[in-house]
Amino acid sequence: MNAKKFWFLVTLGVCQVSSSPVSFCPDDSDICFQWAVPEAGSENVYLQIDAPTSYQWIGLGIGKQMAGAAMFLVYEDGQGNVTVSNRNGKGHSMPLLGDQDSISLLDGSGVKDGRMIANVLYKNSGKLDVSGSSDWIMAKKEGASLASVDPDASVAVHDSHSAFSVNLAQASVSVDSNPFSENNDNGNDVSGGDATSVTETNSNPNSNLILAHGVILTVVFVAVYPLGSLLMPWLGKWYIHAAWQMVGFLAMWAGFGIGYVVSSDLDIFFDQTHTRLGVVVVALLGMQPILGLLHHIQYRRQGARGAFGHVHIWYGRALIIMGMVNGGLGLQLTGASDTYVIVYSVVAGISALMYAGYSTFKAIKTEEKKK
Ligand code: HEM
Ligand SMILES: *[C@@H]1O[C@H](CO)[C@@H](O)[C@H](O)[C@H]1NC(C)=O
Repeated sequence: MNAKKFWFLVTLGVCQVSSSPVSFCPDDSDICFQWAVPEAGSENVYLQIDAPTSYQWIGLGIGKQMAGAAMFLVYEDGQGNVTVSNRNGKGHSMPLLGDQDSISLLDGSGVKDGRMIANVLYKNSGKLDVSGSSDWIMAKKEGASLASVDPDASVAVHDSHSAFSVNLAQASVSVDSNPFSENNDNGNDVSGGDATSVTETNSNPNSNLILAHGVILTVVFVAVYPLGSLLMPWLGKWYIHAAWQMVGFLAMWAGFGIGYVVSSDLDIFFDQTHTRLGVVVVALLGMQPILGLLHHIQYRRQGARGAFGHVHIWYGRALIIMGMVNGGLGLQLTGASDTYVIVYSVVAGISALMYAGYSTFKAIKTEEKKK
C-alpha cells in the first residue's frame, strides 16, 4: 500500500467514526439507543430510543443514578405515536416532570411494526458533556400501553435498570438536523455505531456503601447491643458491659455516617420512614452512655438500682427494638427480596427473645435469692 492510499484510508476511517451516531443496546436487549452530536457545536443533541411495544415505558437518563438525573421517558401516546417526557430524578421515587421545552419529538418517531421509536431533539443547557465520556442510566418496565399524551403521566417502578458511559466525542454528525429522519437525505450516516464508545458501568454506584451500612448496623443492633446488654446481668461487671456497648456505639455512628452519605447522595435523607427513624434512634441512643454513667454513680452511692437505672434499661431496650425494626425497613427500601427480609426478621426476633429470656430468668433467680 502506498502512502497516499494509506492516508486516504485513515482519513476515511476517521471521517466514518466522526460522522455517525453512536448506538447501543444495553444488556444485548431489544431496546436500543442512539446519540448524535452535530459537529458545529450547537446546544442540540439528537437521541433515539427504540423499543418493542411490549414495554410500558423506557427511561433514558443523564447521570449515574436516579437522583439528579435528567431523564427522557418514552411511552405510547395511544394515537400511533409516542410521548416523550423530560423528568428530573429525585432519588428512588417517580421522577418529576422537568422542562418539556428542552425536548422535542422529531420526524420518524412513531409506533411501527410493534416498536416505539422516539427521535428526540434535546437542547443541552450544559447538563451533558458532549466533549467526551458521559454517564447514562436506563430503566424499563414491561406492560400494557400507557396510551397517554400527558408528559406528566404517572408510571410504576421499573422491572430493571442499567448504567453505562457513552463517549459522545465519537457521536458527532456533520449536519445539525435530525439524523434519524426516515427520509435521511441530509448527508448523515446512520449505519454506524461503534461499540468501543459505550462502556457498561455499575448501575448502582452506591451499592457497596449501602451494603456496608446495612451490615454494620445489623451487627450492632442484632448482635452487639443485645449481647452487651446480656453481659451486664451475666457477668455483673459494669466496665465489661460499658466497654462492649461503647464499641457498638462507635460502630453505630460509623454505620449512620455511611447511611447519611448515601442517602444525601440519593437525595432521600430524612425522606421516608427508614431514614427518619434511623436519625431518631441514633440521636436518642446518644443519651444512653450518659444514662449508663449516671446509673453507675447512683448505684454506687445507694447500693441499689435507682431511677437512672430503670431509665437506662428500658430506654435502651426500646431503642434497640426500634433499631431492629428499622433494619427491616432499610432492607425493604433497597428492594431486597422477601427472603432477606424474612431471614433478617427471624434472626432479629431470636436475638430479642434470647435477651428477653435471659433477663427474665435472671430476674426470677434474683427474686428467689432475696426470699
Ligand atoms: C415510578 C418511578 C420510579 C421508581 C418508584 C423508582 C424506584 C427505584 C428504586 C426503589 C431503586 C432502588 C432499587 C434497585 O436498585 O433496584 C431504583 C434504582 C434505579 N432506578 Fe429507579 N425508579 C423509578 C423510575 C426510574 C426511571 C424513569 C429511571 C430511568 C432512567 C430509573 C433508573 C434507575 C437506576 C439507574 C437505578 C439504580 C441507580 C440508583 O440507585 O439510582 N428509575 N429506582
Ligand atoms: C409523531 O410525532 C412527530 C412530532 O410531532 C412527527 O414528526 C411524526 O411524524 C409523528 N409520527 C407519526 C407516525 O405520526
